Amino acid sequence: MTRIQKVILEVFEEHLEASLSELIKITGIAKTTLNDNLKKLVADEKISKLGSGRNIYYQRVYTNKIFLKSITVFNEGIKVGYIKYGNGNHTFEYIDNYKGKELLTLPRNEISSSIDLFPIFENLLPEYQRREKLIDVSKNESLADGLVKIKNTHGSFDFIYTTEEFSYKNNYEDRPSWISVKNKILDENRYPTFLPFKIDIDKDILTASTSGEHSHLSGNQNKVDITIDFKHKIIKEDLKNAAYILKPFNSEIGYYFNQHKSDDKTKGYYPFISINEHLFMTFAKNELNFNVPYSALVKTDEEFHYITKRYDRYRNYKYEQFDYAQFLNIKSTNKYKSNSEQLFLAINNTLHNKKEKMEALRFYYYSSLIKHADLHTKNIGALNIGKNKKILTPLYDVISVGVYKGNSDDIGLSINHKHKNQKVKLRVPDFFGLADILDINHDEFVLEAKKITKTFIEEFPKYIDRTRKLLKYDPLLINSTRTGHDNFIVKLANFYNRRIMELTKLGTLKYLGLEKYEVNRLSVNQIKYDKNELIFKNQ
Ligand SMILES: Nc1ncnc2c1ncn2[C@@H]1O[C@H](COP(=O)(O)OP(=O)(O)OP(=O)(O)O)[C@@H](O)[C@H]1O
Ligand SMILES: [Mg+2]
Repeated sequence: MTRIQKVILEVFEEHLEASLSELIKITGIAKTTLNDNLKKLVADEKISKLGSGRNIYYQRVYTNKIFLKSITVFNEGIKVGYIKYGNGNHTFEYIDNYKGKELLTLPRNEISSSIDLFPIFENLLPEYQRREKLIDVSKNESLADGLVKIKNTHGSFDFIYTTEEFSYKNNYEDRPSWISVKNKILDENRYPTFLPFKIDIDKDILTASTSGEHSHLSGNQNKVDITIDFKHKIIKEDLKNAAYILKPFNSEIGYYFNQHKSDDKTKGYYPFISINEHLFMTFAKNELNFNVPYSALVKTDEEFHYITKRYDRYRNYKYEQFDYAQFLNIKSTNKYKSNSEQLFLAINNTLHNKKEKMEALRFYYYSSLIKHADLHTKNIGALNIGKNKKILTPLYDVISVGVYKGNSDDIGLSINHKHKNQKVKLRVPDFFGLADILDINHDEFVLEAKKITKTFIEEFPKYIDRTRKLLKYDPLLINSTRTGHDNFIVKLANFYNRRIMELTKLGTLKYLGLEKYEVNRLSVNQIKYDKNELIFKNQ
């Protein structure tokens, strides 16, 4: 049977009957080609021709029908294979004579089969409530149907119902190499970058009160896919080719006294988390030379929102990236259920050279230094820059939980099994096991750890100070008690002081030859914060 005939049969998996013009519309196949193939299928008794005159239509002839849906998977514009599902099972098979690269966890020469949607695909879908909004179970939609809805998910996959695959058009021939456009993609920004732009997005969307989803990206947090019109200073929702993501203020984690007591990890009190993410991303970009995309802040009424740029997009081209839950073949609900050693084994097998492996370790060290705490297997990834060479993805989702919680973990996964289920306070030698996995010399790593720590101690106060520029837009007040207020800038300074004390106590500064910084402390005066004047002062 020809490919076109198979596609015609697939149509009848979703449609009880279809006329010629409907088949043209659904499949995108030319009329004469369709006609020829329909004739053949009728002759073979695969379908029957019913009605007469203008009312001719076709139906599938079934023998022991099993209702199966089929999705065609494209990667970087190339047809790879089919996901078939609908009978309580999923299969994945490559197209005949597939010559491209094998997909991570799906062996080329067999039909993979799984009750769950394969993690390589499942990790592309939004999580929790966002997932519920995307997938309409009342219409019998399953996770796989969600894949077809997310047209702009991370990386380079496109999913299309097989019945519609002939309408898929994508040309990657002219796609420039990622490295050649890296600077254009990542762009530049300083801290703080505040965009005084009009936000042309409904409040309901920003507060996640709509019934539908407004971003194609995975994760737990509410997001909106946007374009930024820098010329006219307008930000709009864009559900097609968005090059930017907006993470709106989240009242559940941003307001203290509205909090319900809950064990849910995601519901801490994290005010001004958008500033937090913008700060630690920009610090990594401009002070530590990590690959980091542009980020900025915007504001509506009372709230700051965070914006970042897609690093896997250039014009309409997509670049392949996977997060490490995809590499490790674990579902997104299990994103915390791994450990640093497993993660670094996967990193060692994926990143293409020593320099990139060191970047991963540097990122890990930076994350622990700033008490990222939420560094799980989906918050680190690898980007294919061509010829299947993979680098650490530019950074994303980097925040400091330590700014809010003095006793937070340093990272989200256990490191060195001894730390499992304990509050993790990492010392430099705790990273040696990971360096060994990557075959990185301990001294080389210690040198990098020293540079990062020294830069943090010397440069971070400037970032705290520059946060004052945001006072023009908001007093940055934080509820610390039911009656009193603290301020985000003071919180940052306290975090800095606490971190230096902790690094001193752990012996880290001494170990790195940075004892002279043990006495470094910021006073409120040093950050030029005046409690009484704060609200009235426009810096
Ligand atoms: N700038 C970007 N460019 C391309 N892909 C990105 C970018 N930022 C994030 N992603 C992808 O989108 C996913 C979700 O983004 P992010 O981690 O920021 O969301 P989140 O909802 O805060 O996640 P979490 O569930 O960890 O809280 C990431 O895992 C990553 O794969
Ligand atoms: Mg994330």
